[in-house]
Amino acid sequence: MNNIFPEVPAAHTGADPTMATLTVDGRSCEIPIVMGSEGERALDISALRSKTGLITLDPGFVNTGSCESAITFVDGERGILRYRGIPIEELAAHSTFVETAYLLINSTLPTKEELASFSELLTQHSLVHEDMIFFFRNYPPRAHPMGILASMVNSLSAFYPDINDPGEGINTTVARLLSKMRTLAAISYNISVGHHVIYPRHEYSYCANFLYMMFESPVKVYIIDEDIVRALNVFWILHADHEQNCSTTAVRLVGSARVNLYAAVSSGISALWGPLHGGANQAVMEMLQNICDSGGDIAPFIARAKDKNDPFRLMGFGHRVYKTHDPRVAIMEEICETALSKLKKNDPLLDIARKLRDATREDSYFIDHHLYPNVDFFSGIFMRAIRIPLNMFPVMFAIGRLPGWIAQWKESLDDPKRKLDRPRQIYTGPPARSYVPIEKRG
Ligand code: CMC
Repeated sequence: MNNIFPEVPAAHTGADPTMATLTVDGRSCEIPIVMGSEGERALDISALRSKTGLITLDPGFVNTGSCESAITFVDGERGILRYRGIPIEELAAHSTFVETAYLLINSTLPTKEELASFSELLTQHSLVHEDMIFFFRNYPPRAHPMGILASMVNSLSAFYPDINDPGEGINTTVARLLSKMRTLAAISYNISVGHHVIYPRHEYSYCANFLYMMFESPVKVYIIDEDIVRALNVFWILHADHEQNCSTTAVRLVGSARVNLYAAVSSGISALWGPLHGGANQAVMEMLQNICDSGGDIAPFIARAKDKNDPFRLMGFGHRVYKTHDPRVAIMEEICETALSKLKKNDPLLDIARKLRDATREDSYFIDHHLYPNVDFFSGIFMRAIRIPLNMFPVMFAIGRLPGWIAQWKESLDDPKRKLDRPRQIYTGPPARSYVPIEKRG
């Protein structure tokens, strides 16, 4: 699907393989072809308007590359995902979330010493300013944690204004955000359910600390289970980056105006919240629960998803890029099983999810539309197993995606060719007309 044009070697056609020719109104111009390290090709149209007076129109950026990036490679036809060249399967099997974050942000896997000092930096910055906690207490009890998180992350720029101080160093700001966002998420949960705020403990790892802050209470000690900690590491590794998705594009676009990292990430959180993006994990569970509550028959839900007159979609299905399978799904299903069996739980929603997956594999609508489960399809079952409340699901996605947002923001900041993002449009409104005084309007 990548190469729709039949492959004719340039030597046979005599054409320059680095140039394409565009003919408009009988006049031709050359458009450079850019080649990525995995053979992906793009037309570089940055000079198109000055050469032809034309712009391109691509709603939803379906065919538009917004940048060159060395962070993540996705091949949607072959179901491949790699961070800095390393397959997601290998990272999920061997890495930790903190190590993967280091890899994404710094381009290489850390040495033992580098990993130790990065972890130490995260530990040092895990607390949040006490005054921030007052903010939380004034949100209404039903406030969605994603709205709170976006605001609190933006507020970090007020509490830690040193971000604009060149002496602060980008590594400190990055560590602050990575560490504090996890703490803010746990605090927002505790306050929303009327519990004490639990502070992080220096002796715990990043993931263990999150579980501890979420579930420790003055009346019940939370016992850290290393298998669940491992599963959470994998869960967050699977979410850590996904090249130019909606929220990452928001981070890059807002960042292109040279705002600080906190403001750029806050916009990413807001974009991620939507049910077509990171909010899908919450929407999937609501859908599976509806199926369960209505007796467990999946057929009416599949019929509704196929009905063009019904806006209903199977949540957790479909992807702009993946057209055969999403490589994260099988790993996500595995960690659901691990968590359920370790915690000796049985979730009827997992059986319903599997029934849906299997039925759609045989259904021509889903086959023809290239609709397969995506990362959000099984992720809610894992989160429910480890007692994460439903409205915190998108927050869990946001914590996972944070290293990717930071890496992409940093890459764009360091790019000497980086410009302010400012798309154009094709105007379709009325042509020029005169103002009509109110007394003369019919
Ligand atoms: N259920 C039923 N039909 C669907 C679905 C679905 N989940 N997704 C797409 N379609 C149909 C759609 O109706 C359209 O049909 P037709 O061509 O006959 O009019 C066709 O497939 C193409 O849909 P689209 O909306 O143009 O495709 P897109 O690439 O713009 O959308 C998507 C991608 C993820 C927004 C969409 O598949 C969707 O809404 N999925 C459900 C929400 C979801 O699971 N989102 C999480 C995405 S993965 C994690 C992340 O990146 O956040």
